[in-house]
Amino acid sequence: MKIDVLTLFPEMFESPLGHSILKRAQDAGLVEINFTNIRDFAEGQYRKVDDKPYGGGPGMVMMPGPVFDAVEHAKNKSSEPARLILLTPQGKKFDQKLAAELSNEKHLILISGRYEGFDERIRTSLGAEQVSMGDFVLSGGELAAMVIIDCVVRLLPGALGDEDSAADDSFSDGLLEYPQYTRPEDFRGMKVPDILLSGDHKKIAQWRKDQSIERTKNNRPDLL
Ligand code: ADE
Repeated sequence: MKIDVLTLFPEMFESPLGHSILKRAQDAGLVEINFTNIRDFAEGQYRKVDDKPYGGGPGMVMMPGPVFDAVEHAKNKSSEPARLILLTPQGKKFDQKLAAELSNEKHLILISGRYEGFDERIRTSLGAEQVSMGDFVLSGGELAAMVIIDCVVRLLPGALGDEDSAADDSFSDGLLEYPQYTRPEDFRGMKVPDILLSGDHKKIAQWRKDQSIERTKNNRPDLL
């Protein structure tokens, strides 16, 4: 898989992509992540990428020219058709289902914006899917792009040490994950449930299912 990130701040991604699962997946060649600095496509002495909104109002708006040019540049880097995603609080909410869908793509282009938002022509003419992290406003789309990269890459076959470990994740079956325990068996008087020590795999599976349902009912009834 190839992921291209279009951003004004590529250096923000260095640490999150440089550790653990994301680093291993890149080292193993499961994913190639490249950055395009939108400012490289800005014109003029000051390489301006934003300007005041027509009609007045606070803040600055990202100009269409540099974003369109950066997208064309990223598209031309791969012969595979790219799935184009614009990070914005106005998009559809990102979830595990969309992460799974994106993990089957060969080429993703993620566009991270800054300032008050994008010129409307970027939204309407670029043919990008608009995706949001939730009903809140971030300072820019970079953290949102990192969330997508993290969720998608860990789903690539071979990215996790244990092939099965994504299968039991919360949301993978529409429910929250069941409670997990590890050593010690007794921690400050708090004991691991007997059933998990029983060795009866059928009973354990049923207990986990029941716990998942119970937890989802209590914490996220909207998922049921
Ligand atoms: N940019 C700013 N806020 C955002 C959000 N909630 N999701 C995606 N991109 C954003």
